Amino acid sequence: MGRTRPGERGPPGPGPAAPPAPPPRRARALALLGALLAAAAAAAAARAFARYSEAQQDSALKTLGTEGLFLFSSLDTDRDMYISPEEFKPIAEKLTVVSDSLQPCDGAHSSTLGGPLSAGLCLTGSIPTANYEEEELPPDPSEETLTIEARFQPLLPESMTKSKDGFLGVSRLALSGLRNWTTAASPSAVFAARHFRPFLPPRGHVELGEPWWIIPSELSVFTGYLSNNRFYPPPPKGKEVIIHRLLSMFHPRPFVKTRFAPQGAVACLTAISDFYYTVMFRIHAEFQLSEPPDFPFWFSPGQFTGHIILSKDATHVRDFRLFVPNHRSLNVDMEWLYGASESSNMEVDIGYIPQMELEALGPSVPSVILDEDGNLIDSRLPSGEPLQFVFEEIQWQQELSWEEAARRLEVAMYPFKKVTYLPFTEAFNQAKAKNKLVHSILLWGALDDQSCSGRTLRETVLESSPILALLNESFISTWSLVKELEDLQNNQENPSHQKLASLHLEKYSFPVEMMICLPNGTVVHHINANYFLDITSMKPEDIENHVFSFSSTFEDPSTATYMQFLKEGLRRGLPLLQP
Ligand SMILES: *[C@@H]1O[C@H](CO)[C@@H](O)[C@H](O)[C@H]1NC(C)=O
Ligand SMILES: *[C@@H]1O[C@H](CO)[C@@H](O)[C@H](O)[C@H]1NC(C)=O
Ligand SMILES: *[C@@H]1O[C@H](CO)[C@@H](O)[C@H](O)[C@H]1NC(C)=O
Repeated sequence: MGRTRPGERGPPGPGPAAPPAPPPRRARALALLGALLAAAAAAAAARAFARYSEAQQDSALKTLGTEGLFLFSSLDTDRDMYISPEEFKPIAEKLTVVSDSLQPCDGAHSSTLGGPLSAGLCLTGSIPTANYEEEELPPDPSEETLTIEARFQPLLPESMTKSKDGFLGVSRLALSGLRNWTTAASPSAVFAARHFRPFLPPRGHVELGEPWWIIPSELSVFTGYLSNNRFYPPPPKGKEVIIHRLLSMFHPRPFVKTRFAPQGAVACLTAISDFYYTVMFRIHAEFQLSEPPDFPFWFSPGQFTGHIILSKDATHVRDFRLFVPNHRSLNVDMEWLYGASESSNMEVDIGYIPQMELEALGPSVPSVILDEDGNLIDSRLPSGEPLQFVFEEIQWQQELSWEEAARRLEVAMYPFKKVTYLPFTEAFNQAKAKNKLVHSILLWGALDDQSCSGRTLRETVLESSPILALLNESFISTWSLVKELEDLQNNQENPSHQKLASLHLEKYSFPVEMMICLPNGTVVHHINANYFLDITSMKPEDIENHVFSFSSTFEDPSTATYMQFLKEGLRRGLPLLQP
């Protein structure tokens, strides 16, 4: 969000410019790839993994699956295939914190991570929960209320990659929750101004643009990611309640905490007056579209963003808007299971939803009006017209641009964004001007929102400080969607952009390709994300026989490998730059 990128031309049609159909096996590999690394601090686990005997590993794999074994091995520090209380301690500490907000499982749809961890990691909510919000948000007749309206246009099925072959091989059942979701669950709802108190900044936090967490993330190395195999959201607590209730206007099963990092909701001030704040926010949340006996279907919009203008005591809301940005050609990630367990095959796809938006119909107004003597006044004039309220104009004393605020929230969610990623063609212009190489990431889905499994990369190497430093110093960085470059390649009006895009697409393979390029677009070095993952999870004895060595000073093989990739790019590219 926040900037225009080349190739952003609204919803994709069913024409030739849509993203390439990934072979299903690769699609699953992509999902798994996301899960794997997020699950278990890839590096440490990958090394640990290697030190089990082959027989041990095979039998553990049978019991736990790959993801489970990664997690297990990250805890089993002495590699004896047993988790001692000491080894379990870190996860126990983590889980006692997390378990408060997770629903205990009743076993009916429990996670099959298996082994000694399954009890602790069973995060399956199996019981529909309702009405908890009424308890948390009781009405008070003397306060101000506002009406919020939901606007919803369903996902365009033709924007999905799997629509290419008419959804061959996708069972009708799998998509029924998506197909059924054609309208907002509640087109309009009344809220009290007070319910929006969670959007106020924490006490003393009054710097424009300084982010704070409304809902902090609870994911970490030890919790990994939350189970895919859940249907009903855990009961929201505290500040989650209002966000849950707002998102429930779209669909009855919103999860205010996503399964994968970065989770949560972050906000910052964009304007301050004597009595009011404007708060901008970014929420990562997702929906479960299926119910038993169907298998889970996750619908994860790239993000929800928006703003609220409210009085500093949260008794008055002047304006509120929340929406899923729709300026990119794809903005929703979908993942669905073909079975009732965590290790069942998962399909992934990306699509475009044209509109998902909540907006206040007007400022909050008192529900009961009293005159100066405290008598109740009829809110209708004798003529029958409703009483008109006049709202004072807000004189803002400090303001921050929307773009800058959006950027601050983005960096809070994604530390890798500390390095600027420019739009594709701008990156090449800059590279020419500064005579630098371009570090480019080309992916099937977006890198900086939740609608893609690019999460693998950004959660590991792209955030690591030596990589950030080298990128900042020696490269101009950019990332693009395959679809955006295809649009650029098909645009007859700009032959130089066409050339840049086609040089890139020539070197691309699904799902993610990292490239180092000259300012004229020639790719001097590239590496595919799947290959990258393969080599970073190799056994040490294999590595000795390969071109890659981890002799460098970096603890983490992913960082070391990415570093090596960048340095090789510099070695090949620097001599070719204009002197
Ligand atoms: C979809 O809608 C139909 C008809 O209203 C209903 O019978 C079915 O259970 C719904 N399916 C899902 C997955 O919600
Ligand atoms: C990038 O480099 C600039 C100037 O060399 C410096 O001010 C900035 O802090 C650096 N940023 C990061 C993330 O290293
Ligand atoms: C870009 O520049 C390099 C080095 O000068 C040259 O070898 C290459 O052919 C150029 N590529 C294009 C597409 O012009």
